[in-house]
Amino acid sequence: MSNKATLEVNGQKHEFPLVVGSENEVAIDIKSLRSVTGGVTTIDPGFKNTGSCESAITFLDGEKGILRYRGYSIEELAEKADFLEVAYLLIFGELPTKAQHEKFHADIKSKSVVDDDVRKIVDAFPKSAHPMGVLSSLTSALTAFNPTSVNVDSEEDMYNSVVKILGKFPVLVAWTLRKKNGLPLDYGDNNLGYVENVLKMMFKQPNEEYVQNEVIVDALDKLLILHADHEQNCSTSTVRVVGSSHAGLFASLSAGISALWGPLHGGANQAVLEMLEAIKEDGGDTKKYMAKAKDKNDPFRLMGFGHRVYKNFDPRAKIIKVAADEVLNNLGVEDPILDVAKALEQEALNDPYFVDRKLYPNVDFYSGIIYRAMGIPTDMFTVMFALGRLPGWIAQWREMRLGKEPIGRPRQVYIGETYRKFTIVENR
Ligand code: CMC
Repeated sequence: MSNKATLEVNGQKHEFPLVVGSENEVAIDIKSLRSVTGGVTTIDPGFKNTGSCESAITFLDGEKGILRYRGYSIEELAEKADFLEVAYLLIFGELPTKAQHEKFHADIKSKSVVDDDVRKIVDAFPKSAHPMGVLSSLTSALTAFNPTSVNVDSEEDMYNSVVKILGKFPVLVAWTLRKKNGLPLDYGDNNLGYVENVLKMMFKQPNEEYVQNEVIVDALDKLLILHADHEQNCSTSTVRVVGSSHAGLFASLSAGISALWGPLHGGANQAVLEMLEAIKEDGGDTKKYMAKAKDKNDPFRLMGFGHRVYKNFDPRAKIIKVAADEVLNNLGVEDPILDVAKALEQEALNDPYFVDRKLYPNVDFYSGIIYRAMGIPTDMFTVMFALGRLPGWIAQWREMRLGKEPIGRPRQVYIGETYRKFTIVENR
C-alpha cells in the first residue's frame, strides 16, 4: 500500500502522508492542507470522517463489535477486573499491581472529603433540578474549592488530581440523589470498596443500617466498567477540546458532563426507560412505535438503538443484557418494561429498516432496566453513566495534555452574507 494520498484541488496535485494505527486503521494526515492549497479546508459535520487525535487508550471496531481498553477486551475486563483496576488501567496505561491497586484506593479515599461549604451550593438547588445539571455545576464548583491548577509536567501533581476527583466525584453523585430525595448528605464509609461506598452513600437511610447486596454491587461494578471509556465520543471530545485551552481538569470534566446529558448521548438511558414506560402505558403496542420510528415525518426515534460507530452489535449491550437478567432474577423483580424491551428488540432485529441501517440495541437499551431494579430514579441514570465515564474522561484529558496537543479550534465554510454597508437605526 502506498503511504501517501493524493488530492487534486483546482488542477493542482498534493500529496499527504498516511498515518497507520496499531490496528491498521488508516488516516490521511491533512495537517498541511491549508498551507499547501492556499486555504482550502475540509468539511465534515458531526466529524463522521475526522480523526481528532492519535490515542493509545481505547480501540473499538464498530464492524466487528470489538471494544478494548489499552488492549484488554471489554468482555474480560467486565468479568475479571474491578472498576478501580479499570480506572487505573485507562488513566495510567497498565493494570495496577496489587500494591498499586491498594495504594490507589487508599489515596482516593484520603481525598474523598468534599469541602462542607459545597453543601450550601447543593442546598441552593431546587429538588426538581435535573441531577445532571446539579452534577455538572458541582463538578465545576470543585474548581473554586481546589483553585491550584494541575502542573501537567509533574507526575505527582497529576496523580494527586486524579485521585482527588475520583474520591470526590462519587460524593457529588450521591449528593445529587440525596438532595432530590430530601435525605441528609453523607460522606460514606472509607472501610468499604469503591462501588459499595457509592451505593451506601446514595441509599443509606438516616435511621437504618445499609445492607449491601453483592449481586447489585457486582452489576454496578460491571456497568461502570462498560461505560468507562469509548474513545472520541461527544463528551470525551468535549473534555479534550475544553482541556486543550488549558482549562483545568474539573472544568473540563464539568463540560463533559453537560455533553453527556443529551438524549442522543448518555441521556439515552433515561430516554429509553421513559420510552418503554410510555409504550407500556399506551397498551404495549410495540408495532405502533416501530412504525413511528420508521416514519420520516415523525421525529420519534427508537431510543437505545443505533450507534455512530457500532454497525453490527454493541459488545457492551450483550454483556448488559445478561447482567440485567441476573439482577432481575436475584431481586425477584418482574418488570413489565422488560417484556416491552424484549418485544421491541425482536421486532427491530427482524425489520428491514433497522437491519439495512445497521441499527442494533446499544449500551443504553438495557442499562436503565438494571438501574431501575436497583432503585435508582430514571433521571439519575445519566449520572451513573457519568460516574462510569469519569476515568475515561480523565485518561483522555491527561493524554491530551501530556501530548501537548494544540488548542482545538475547527474551521468552517462561511455561507452567510458577504460585506454589507451598515445603515444607522433611524434609516432602516
Ligand atoms: N430510530 C430510528 N431511526 C434511526 C435511529 C433510531 N434510534 N438511529 C438512527 N436512525 C436512522 C436515521 O434516521 C437515519 O436514517 P436515514 O439514513 O434514512 O436518514 C439512519 O438511521 C442513520 O442515522 P444517523 O442519525 O445519521 O446516525 P448517527 O451516527 O448520526 O447517529 C445515534 C447515531 C446514536 C445518535 C442515533 O442512532 C440515535 O439517535 N439513536 C438513538 C439515541 C441513542 O440510543 N443514543 C445512545 C448512543 S449509545 C450511548 C453513547 O455512547 O452515547
